[in-house]
Amino acid sequence: MTTQTPLRTRPLMPEFGAEILDVDVANASPETVRQIIDVFNTSGVILLRNQRLDKPQLMAFTSVFGELGDNTREEYVDPEFPKIYVISNKVVNGRAIGQHDANHGWHSDLATAQRPALCTLLQALEVPDEGSDTLVADMCGAFRALPAERQSELMNYRLHQSFVEMRRSRGLPVTPEMSEAMPDVFHPMVRRHPVDGRKALWLGSLPIGIVGVPNPQGLDLLDELLEFATQERFTYRHKWQVGDILIWDDRMTLHTATPYDMTKYTRLMHRTWVLGEVPLAA
Ligand SMILES: [Fe+2]
Repeated sequence: MTTQTPLRTRPLMPEFGAEILDVDVANASPETVRQIIDVFNTSGVILLRNQRLDKPQLMAFTSVFGELGDNTREEYVDPEFPKIYVISNKVVNGRAIGQHDANHGWHSDLATAQRPALCTLLQALEVPDEGSDTLVADMCGAFRALPAERQSELMNYRLHQSFVEMRRSRGLPVTPEMSEAMPDVFHPMVRRHPVDGRKALWLGSLPIGIVGVPNPQGLDLLDELLEFATQERFTYRHKWQVGDILIWDDRMTLHTATPYDMTKYTRLMHRTWVLGEVPLAA
């Protein structure tokens, strides 16, 4: 039996997300860490403000959620700690230290992999005075809001995700080794959370279609669902402060970012991600 008091939290949205208050992650006890994971597992996205994790601490904290994933763009990983990805417009000694345009519209991380991301962690080190908000959409809320008939229909569908096609669409090179290592995958469009069983509409990352639904109907349905699920009522908009750590559950959310004036402001974020399970169908 534990004598520790429960964590103090407040919702980020009426039915989505939680800010965890009064926790110093760098010095948190194992019991506090366990409680943070519990809040994460039922919230979709969690926020911890005023944190100062150095790189080893950031990796250690990320690893409490599971196995750290490798980054797909090696040119922007931290030179010393390659599991940490740098998102920044800063140039140091003539080198762009990070990816400045780390936004490709609404998506879930590593969706083209056999094991998409479980969660993504972003820590803010420098933030612009305006812009560069992160938006996180509650795909459980979106699923609950669909008519029952539509819910049952979608539970039969699988998304066709293609890493190779996604690279091509972004003008990035594709090698034969990449095609072999990252074959197309077919993930359920409605996912079940492994911890509490709740269901989420899941739209991955730029799927190229729906199995069994010919295009353009498949892509039209995906566009329609994306527009529905990313309405303001399902979306948490995070305005960054230095020291913020935001962690979203990639199994139950989509995310995107707003632009900022890169000629006027600098942004520096550290990102880590955790590998998830092969997605569970609802
Ligand atoms: Fe992302």
